[in-house]
This record gives sequence, C-alpha cells and structure tokens, in this order.
Amino acid sequence: MRRHHKDDDLSLEQMREALTADFWDERYRGSDRVWSGRPNQRLVEQVADLAPGTALDVACGEGGDAIWLASNGWRVTAVDVSEVALERTAQHAEEAGVDDRLRIGLYDALEDPRPGGRRRYDLVTVSFLHVPVADFKRVYTSIAKAVAPGGRLLVVAHHPEDVETGVRSSHGPGLLFEPERVVSTLGADATDSPWQVEVADTPVREQVMGEGTVSVRDTVVRLRRTR
Ligand SMILES: C[S@@+](CC[C@H](N)C(=O)[O-])C[C@H]1O[C@@H](n2cnc3c(N)ncnc32)[C@H](O)[C@@H]1O
Repeated sequence: MRRHHKDDDLSLEQMREALTADFWDERYRGSDRVWSGRPNQRLVEQVADLAPGTALDVACGEGGDAIWLASNGWRVTAVDVSEVALERTAQHAEEAGVDDRLRIGLYDALEDPRPGGRRRYDLVTVSFLHVPVADFKRVYTSIAKAVAPGGRLLVVAHHPEDVETGVRSSHGPGLLFEPERVVSTLGADATDSPWQVEVADTPVREQVMGEGTVSVRDTVVRLRRTR
C-alpha cells in the first residue's frame, strides 16, 4: 500500500532547512523520546566482527548507537547538530553507566569541515543522515577524513526503493541514496583508491510502523581505509 506521495517532495532550500539545529531541536523537544533507544540493527551487524577502538558517531540523535558502542568497549565521540539530542545522549549514557567512555560534540554537517575535530577514528559511523545531492560529496568527503588508516567508515541510510514501495516519503529528489553513491563519491571503486569496499549492500528488514510492520530496505556501506 502506498502511504506517501511524491508531492511530499521538498525544495532544495526546504531540504537544507531540515538539516538545521532549529528544526531538529524542535523535533526532539516535541517528544521525550523520538527514537527507540536501541542501536540500529545494521550497526550491530556491521560492528560485530570489529575489535573495539575509537568511534565517531556522526548525527548520533539520542545516542542509541553511541551508547551501544560504548557498552561494547568502544571509546565514543558522538556528534549532532541538535543540542537537545546531545543532552539526551549524555543523559542516556550516564543512565547506562558508560559516560566515562562517551563524549559529545556539536557538529553541523553542512558547515563544519571536520566532525570530531582533528582526531581520526577506528570507526566512523553515520546512520540516517540524508543530505541533498548538491551537498553529498562535500559532507561525506569531510566525514570520511575522520577515519584513521586501517579504520572503517560505516554509512547506513534509507534506500530510495522505500519511496517506490510507499513506506516513506522521498522528502526531496535524490535525498535517499543507494550504496553506489557513497562508493563512487569517495572514489572507492577506483583501482588506486585508499578505500576497500567491504560491504555495499541493500538488505531488507521489518520495521514497526503504526499498527503493523512493513518491509523497509536499507543502504549499508562499510569501507576500510587501507592507508
Ligand atoms: C534520522 S536522525 C538519526 C539519528 C541516529 N543516527 C539514529 O540512527 O538513531 C538524523 C539525525 O541527524 C541530525 N542532523 C540533521 N542535520 C544535521 C547536520 N546538518 N549536521 C549534523 N547532524 C545533523 C539530527 O539532529 C538527527 O539527530
């Protein structure tokens, strides 16, 4: 059943508006808890075979992923454009008893060239940060710079097929993306690339929506920086 229509599409200006602190602070203030508090399934799957080290969670939201990583031995920096989201991440980390393994930082993907400062991390993870195509290369190239040699970049996103199957609105042309966009934007498909493509997949999962569940497709990309 189609639940959304393409006329939900936003202009480029409106898409960028939806990436501002004001937009997200208001969204978070509207509810005590916007997300489930559980880690994203794709993060758990993709991190299972990695030895814990330092991790940067970009666009961490209320901290579900960051707290799970910290609980599993990672030393985590969690960044987001929303101060409200970061306050919640800090509060949830304290409640989970992992605040000594997690620090937070304000970061605007459209403005700041370096998420997580000048450090480089063994794992940089970005889940469900959808930026307009016009900003994609700039934003993801700067995020990728935070990966240490030997480290991983994990990108998880909604797959554009979800718009076709009607489970979500596109919110704007090109906002959702396939694995190929990450791979080609970072040049990971080039023979002399510093990136090794470990995962470029589009798995399906069941998601609770309203009264029932729907099948949704994710974009999952895991790259290893070889040098
Ligand atoms: C869909 S939520 C995902 C949150 C979290 N990664 C998760 O999977 O639960 C998108 C997050 O991106 C953050 N965000 C939006 N625009 C941003 C920007 N320009 N820079 C950094 N974070 C941004 C929002 O505040 C929000 O927490």
